[in-house]
Amino acid sequence: NGAHDWAALFEGAISINLFVELSRTQLVLLLGVGTPVAVILLNALRQMIPRRTSDPPHVFHWIPFVGSAIEYGTNPVPFFTKNKEKYGDVFTFTMLGREITAALGAKGNNFVLGGKSLDFNAEDAYTHFTTPVFGTDVIYDVPNSIFMQQKKFIKVALSTEKFRAYVGMIEEEVEDFIASDPAFAATQKKSDEWGSFDVVDVMQEITILTASRTLQGKEIRAALDKSFAGLYNDLDGGFTPINFLFPKLPLPSYRKRDAANRKMTEFYTEILRKKLAAGDPDETDVMVSLAEQRYKDGSSLKEHEIAHLMIALLMAGQHTSSATGSWVLLHIARSPDIAQALYDEQVKHFGSPDGQLRDMTYDELRELPVLDSVIRETLRLHPPIHSLMRKVREPVVVPPSLSAPRSKSHQDSVYVVPKGNFVLASPSVSQLDPAVWVNPDAWEPRRWWVSGGAAASAKAAETGDGEVVDYGYGAVSKGTESPYQPFGAGRHRCIGEQFAYLQLGTIIVTMIRNLELKLPHEVPEHNYHTMIIMPKHPRQIQYRRRRAV
Ligand code: HEM
Repeated sequence: NGAHDWAALFEGAISINLFVELSRTQLVLLLGVGTPVAVILLNALRQMIPRRTSDPPHVFHWIPFVGSAIEYGTNPVPFFTKNKEKYGDVFTFTMLGREITAALGAKGNNFVLGGKSLDFNAEDAYTHFTTPVFGTDVIYDVPNSIFMQQKKFIKVALSTEKFRAYVGMIEEEVEDFIASDPAFAATQKKSDEWGSFDVVDVMQEITILTASRTLQGKEIRAALDKSFAGLYNDLDGGFTPINFLFPKLPLPSYRKRDAANRKMTEFYTEILRKKLAAGDPDETDVMVSLAEQRYKDGSSLKEHEIAHLMIALLMAGQHTSSATGSWVLLHIARSPDIAQALYDEQVKHFGSPDGQLRDMTYDELRELPVLDSVIRETLRLHPPIHSLMRKVREPVVVPPSLSAPRSKSHQDSVYVVPKGNFVLASPSVSQLDPAVWVNPDAWEPRRWWVSGGAAASAKAAETGDGEVVDYGYGAVSKGTESPYQPFGAGRHRCIGEQFAYLQLGTIIVTMIRNLELKLPHEVPEHNYHTMIIMPKHPRQIQYRRRRAV
């Protein structure tokens, strides 16, 4: 209609005039500030439009694309807890363009980790991050059916026979470290003086020294004092949250990571060739065991696949074990009664009339309840990996029992996680759930000694009372519904658990035998800005040489 057209023309003229009047700077300011504000407002409005009732509730966010990334990335556990109270166990949030559906609690763990890999897929969630570090044709760079066979090869290679040989090697590495590293200068003077060490720095060193001496083989251990350490650092520089969030950035650290992967692959391949050519392979060698395995079609692993699996084992165990060891030492240093209980356990089992503690065997190490509960409890309170993710290949219906309580508008609906989303389970949430654990925020190893309670049933489920399944890498306890999952559960469950217990147990025992520890302040908070949850500063532990028994 005519009147309307005139009004529009008039308005247009005013705005043109306005633009002419505005200086260039003002225009830039108007566009520069106005556009983001408009985008933010539009994004907010869009979220107010009712969604499909089958969509899980969505966490509100102001900044499009970024979404809840900052809150989740800075402090995921309070972020999960707050939204769980608001929406129930299942909700979706945006994180840097990804739509992530969290499924929390023990039932959420079961939903995500017990899902079929055709629906909830790990390769799609992780390969962009892991393949440049580990290398091609292994782990998440191959279809799940191939990976499950590779997992079996690793499981076979990590045999109890080898573990028996590893205890003494780890003990020796730790003792040498205490005797020679500047961090332990106070003990080297053979005085009663107190010194202090940065627990993360020390545990990172000890973890790589002991893992390379055992799993990785003596050649890698020898090279660690030379070129290998630098290569490892370059590779590790590509294993950060930035790499996870932004797979391809033109940054030097990305190039260094790729070069390190190439050089390490060559290095492992050369060692393997020499070992196989020597004809009398070392019984304790993991690489040689891998070379002996066959895929279902009869083919053997290629050289580069063996090299890449070795890199994957190194990386999978390094931060997880060093973080756990750091938290254990911090808690022991802060809890003199538990430190004493650990030491008494040593005296009880390995004491001799001359006051010396004799060496322990692998089988004896597994039968030490105080040591076991200290590691178990630390992994409950500080699981190194707080979010386990899968990408949704096919829409999946959320079991109704999982998603309660619901808002009025969603009361009768069934949630469906759409294709293209990620699903996320968090051991951190179920392991701190006050409905499951008594006094969940306290580090209380004794909870694992007493009969009954969540701890006792979690332990029973792990040690064989639960359902046992073979996903293609040997029988394992299914454990997907357990509230205790520091090593994950189901098809993608960790196969390094026994090695981690052996490595951590031997390191802790050796330190406790040699040192008295104390921590003059509370155990630090979690730093979530690293891939693996680490302790924040200050994290210096005070120590002195332990006096005779
Ligand atoms: C898988 C934790 C040590 C090798 C996993 C998963 C978790 C985990 C939570 C499941 C990931 C997922 O479902 O997305 C830990 C912790 C460790 C530890 C807490 C030490 C305290 C190790 C070590 C090795 C290792 C020492 C190697 C020797 C693996 C492998 C997988 C795995 C190969 C399988 C991944 C898959 O199937 O997708 N680990 N890990 N881990 N871990 Fe560990």
